[in-house]
Amino acid sequence: MAFGHGKVILLGEHGVVHGRPALALAVERGAEARAFVHDGPTNVMRIEPWGVQVDDGPEEDSEKALLQRALRVATGFFEDALRTRIDVMMRLPGGAGMGSSAAIGVAVLRALEEVRGLAPDDERIYQRSLRWEGVFHGNPSGVDNAMATWGGLACFVRGAPLERITPALPVRVVASFSGSSSGTREMVASVASQLAREPARVTRIFDAMETLVHAGRRAIEVGDLVGLGAAMSENHALLQALSLSTATLDDMVSRALAAGALGAKVTGAGGGGCMIALVDSVLAARRVSDALSSLGHPTWDVVAEG
Ligand code: PMV
Repeated sequence: MAFGHGKVILLGEHGVVHGRPALALAVERGAEARAFVHDGPTNVMRIEPWGVQVDDGPEEDSEKALLQRALRVATGFFEDALRTRIDVMMRLPGGAGMGSSAAIGVAVLRALEEVRGLAPDDERIYQRSLRWEGVFHGNPSGVDNAMATWGGLACFVRGAPLERITPALPVRVVASFSGSSSGTREMVASVASQLAREPARVTRIFDAMETLVHAGRRAIEVGDLVGLGAAMSENHALLQALSLSTATLDDMVSRALAAGALGAKVTGAGGGGCMIALVDSVLAARRVSDALSSLGHPTWDVVAEG
């Protein structure tokens, strides 16, 4: 079974598109895929539980067209005449800031190599999944597919090797879905146009984000969860200044803090999707999780052990 992790971004989303560092934490859940040889005229990919099926033949309606294009990118890496059916099981919400498209891409690319008996090569999967992500996001930094490929807790800078981080204490967050999805492509484009219109203001925001990423990394390495939480909440204010939060996400952040979270923020592209809250114990995770799920928001526990 081939696998791609989901992820949450602890600090630094959007700045990372523009060359700044980000801290990301892989989610144990993600996408699973298996490929089977079949004798149909095209490759076919089916994604459950979404009930979506596409092939790499002529493009259909616009909703499926992106998935078809991505499948064509993935199957186009192989020069043989093998035709496959790829079954994907997705265990994350889509369009929610948890890196679902990268998780599927990594799982599918791995499955296509597995069915051909190729030896696994993470660097190749990473590079190929960046092309897959480009179909959906236009200008992906690479953080989602790096985390989908390698998992763990890491500092990512565009174009540089992933730097793994060993936490002094477990880093435990509760991730929760606001109920509305958003498009990473649109959110990334909105930040790019703010940067073009107001370069000084947006550069100041990116500078502040970068400072938080460095501070957050040090905090993780020495086990200062209070410091990490403060950096996350400050990062949320910077994302608000870029119009990437929503009233619902702001409310979820406030409620998580009131329930005892050490810090909370939007995660991923924003404009909808998920928020995350840092907690210092299983009990605190339960309290925050209860506060958010009582409002109807699904929650997931995400942990990096030392
Ligand atoms: O919302 P997601 O899971 O696609 O995360 C996007 C993260 C961004 O920094 C906003 C974009 C990127 O390519 O890094």
